[in-house]
Amino acid sequence: MFQQHGVRSLRSFRPLHQRPPPDLRDLTPLAPRPAPPAWPPRSEYGQYDIPTADVMINFKVGQPAESMLPLDEIRKAAAHKFAETDQLFLQYGFISGYPRFRRSLATFLSEWYKAPVEADNLFVTNGVTGGLGLYCMVYATAGETVFAEEPTYFLAKAIFADFGLNVVQIPMDPDGINIEALEAQLEAGNIPKFLYTIPTAHNPTGRTMSVAKRAKLVALGAQYGFHIIADEVYQLLTFPGVEAPPPLFTFDDTEDGVVISLGSFSKILAPALRLGWMEANPKILKKIFDCGTLDSSGGINPVIQGIVHSAIDLGIQAEYLTKTKQTLSDRYSALAAALTEHLPAGTTFEVPEGGYFVLVQLPEGTDSVAFNNFCQETDKKVMFLPGASFGASYGNFLRLSFSYYNAADMAVGAERLGKAITAFLSQ
Ligand SMILES: Cc1ncc(COP(=O)(O)O)c(C=O)c1O
Repeated sequence: MFQQHGVRSLRSFRPLHQRPPPDLRDLTPLAPRPAPPAWPPRSEYGQYDIPTADVMINFKVGQPAESMLPLDEIRKAAAHKFAETDQLFLQYGFISGYPRFRRSLATFLSEWYKAPVEADNLFVTNGVTGGLGLYCMVYATAGETVFAEEPTYFLAKAIFADFGLNVVQIPMDPDGINIEALEAQLEAGNIPKFLYTIPTAHNPTGRTMSVAKRAKLVALGAQYGFHIIADEVYQLLTFPGVEAPPPLFTFDDTEDGVVISLGSFSKILAPALRLGWMEANPKILKKIFDCGTLDSSGGINPVIQGIVHSAIDLGIQAEYLTKTKQTLSDRYSALAAALTEHLPAGTTFEVPEGGYFVLVQLPEGTDSVAFNNFCQETDKKVMFLPGASFGASYGNFLRLSFSYYNAADMAVGAERLGKAITAFLSQ
């Protein structure tokens, strides 16, 4: 996702829906097309205009590259689905997702997770974002406190704020949440409504929670009576050769359930599908199943479920995922090599296990918001997500995404970043 946070806004990052409507004369058949303007709005699709490398390397963009979006594959899956003749495909849908889709999804996930997934434990959502929103709508009340790791996904904080929840952040270790710090809170009587974690290829650190910590965390949830929401958007996106521990739901053997694992097709197929899933004990899912919003809407995106169902059954999903893991790994390697070459002494970066991001640490005391402002004011043509947005003690950190720009562009970006850091620190 991509948002302005304490950063000077640039004309080129105006959300697309704020643009003036296209000039219809452009659509006249065979009319000569005017020369493209310097900053052409290439498409009405997409959340943001993302600059090309000559204008800016915007490392903040946590979205797949345009070249990674599988339009032909989705077209094939859609054609396959629309060859079916059951009119009810277009009816209000089965609330938790239609059974054949959930069974296909369960089979796919069981294979890729290397852990059994039951269709009855799956509930189709509008991506991880939709899953978080649904959960908060049904289970949380404004004013309640929730825990998250420090650092955490900055937009999860924004979602929790939408529901009036107070977020308390718990420090992280290289192998996941700091269990001692969490236990200290719990022993002091601070029991959250739920704890939000990103256990695998965490955003923004790229870290993966160890198996021992997964088991301990779930045990604490059961002992103290709070739910654990595992945002597993990168569970299937560890780099090739990096085996992810089993998803968090696997560790939940409690009677009523404490873990809600959230998954998404956004990063393993395409974000615009707005499709994902919750995996949880049916007792937890029941309250969501029964809520008025879903009763009225008849389930989430049944037509998209159908298209993704075909993508799974035709093997398109598996093939795309294999390719995407390699692409992300190659892009990370290119960025890592360029950062190693160009970052000045005293600035380091963390090696991620997968996902989309690299966390860079500037020398102690450096303010990465001020540094980002400096980069824009002095036209360094590089941008990133400053650490303050994902954790108060991360003021001297910044997050770089390696999903959007290609290797050559990222090398240019890393060089710009390195030079900018040197210039900023020598002021
Ligand atoms: C940790 C994390 N959770 C959730 C999302 C958004 O997921 P979705 O598109 O499934 O709503 C992102 C996207 O960047 C993310 O990094």
